[in-house]
Amino acid sequence: MNASDLTAGFNRGVRIAGTGSAVPDRVLSNHDLAKMMDTSDEWIQQRTGIRERRICDPEKGEGTLWLSEQAAALALEDAGLTGADVDLVIVATVTMEMTCPSTAARLAGKLGATPAGAFDITAACCGFMYALNLADSLIRVGRANRILIVGCDCMSSIIDYDDRSVSILFGDAAGSAVLEAVDDPTRGSVYQSLQADGRGWPSLYIPREASQIAAGDEDNPIKLGNLRMNGREVYKFAVTRFQRAIKDAFEKTGLEPDEFGAFICHQSNARIIESAVEKLGLPDEKVYVNIDRYGNSSAGSVGLCLDQMRKAGRIDESKPTMLVAFGGGMTWASSVWRH
Ligand code: UT7
Repeated sequence: MNASDLTAGFNRGVRIAGTGSAVPDRVLSNHDLAKMMDTSDEWIQQRTGIRERRICDPEKGEGTLWLSEQAAALALEDAGLTGADVDLVIVATVTMEMTCPSTAARLAGKLGATPAGAFDITAACCGFMYALNLADSLIRVGRANRILIVGCDCMSSIIDYDDRSVSILFGDAAGSAVLEAVDDPTRGSVYQSLQADGRGWPSLYIPREASQIAAGDEDNPIKLGNLRMNGREVYKFAVTRFQRAIKDAFEKTGLEPDEFGAFICHQSNARIIESAVEKLGLPDEKVYVNIDRYGNSSAGSVGLCLDQMRKAGRIDESKPTMLVAFGGGMTWASSVWRH
């Protein structure tokens, strides 16, 4: 199917006018973790591909809003715009410092994006993808002309560093993009999926109270308010759903793996990405991997990759880009983006 069949019925498309990303300076290496808990650099690298991750220093005021502001400011600068030029700000996060007001409202206030609409969404590691697809749709139907999206998680604020099963995976990061209307409807997200299966929630969740602890998870020593994960369950889910999401995108667009210019995959575990590359025959050199340096930054991950790839000239814009993620919920999402 060609791009005009996929976007029939729309008379506008979307372009990425700018991107930005931010990570804290503080590095938490596998060797640092091995001093804090019973783990090793070798185990972590072998099972996940991670060498180090970045974490915020709350004493310096670093956190979700702080990271979001830096990434968003860079995206606006890249687009040659200011906050006043956008009509909507969406922040995807599970680590908002406050639920009211939203991180997006505070961010919009800091950026001078008034009276742009502003709200947060939570879709865990799929957050950036949900924001991207939603923003594309709002622009396409003419409800907005320019939308600033941010995917940001300060995972270190919800990690119990006494526990080795979850803490080794995650890091803090933000990725942002400014999306803008264009006349050509075949540009932007020409195919997208946003999906969830809430029955799988106990695999990845943050209970605030003891009554929210999932059946069978009562003996888990992770402190309340911190992220709990059934790694094996998430791994099984990820390998199947992640690959299914990519296959669906191939089938629905009629595009073959080598017709894509880049694959931007949520960085959850290098083995999950490697398995997709192998099983689906993705061209290795077009699949970006930065998990070795940043770990899994949840909603920050896809936006961080997008910005790093764009700035490094690693996105062939003459071809579509595939963006894909999965995460807590359980959620999964994809987008085939024509530049
Ligand atoms: O964005 C979505 C977020 N989450 C994910 O994508 C996570 C998906 N899951 C995974 O990536 C993997 O399940 C993990 C990396 C989390 C764990 O790897 P695994 O190969 O599934 O290990 P496992 O949980 O099956 O544990 C194997 C062994 C266990 O010991 P025994 O029972 O075999 O003696 C664990 O106790 O490894 C032990 N173990 C560790 N050892 C050293 C668990 N965590 C650690 C650790 N260091 N950090």
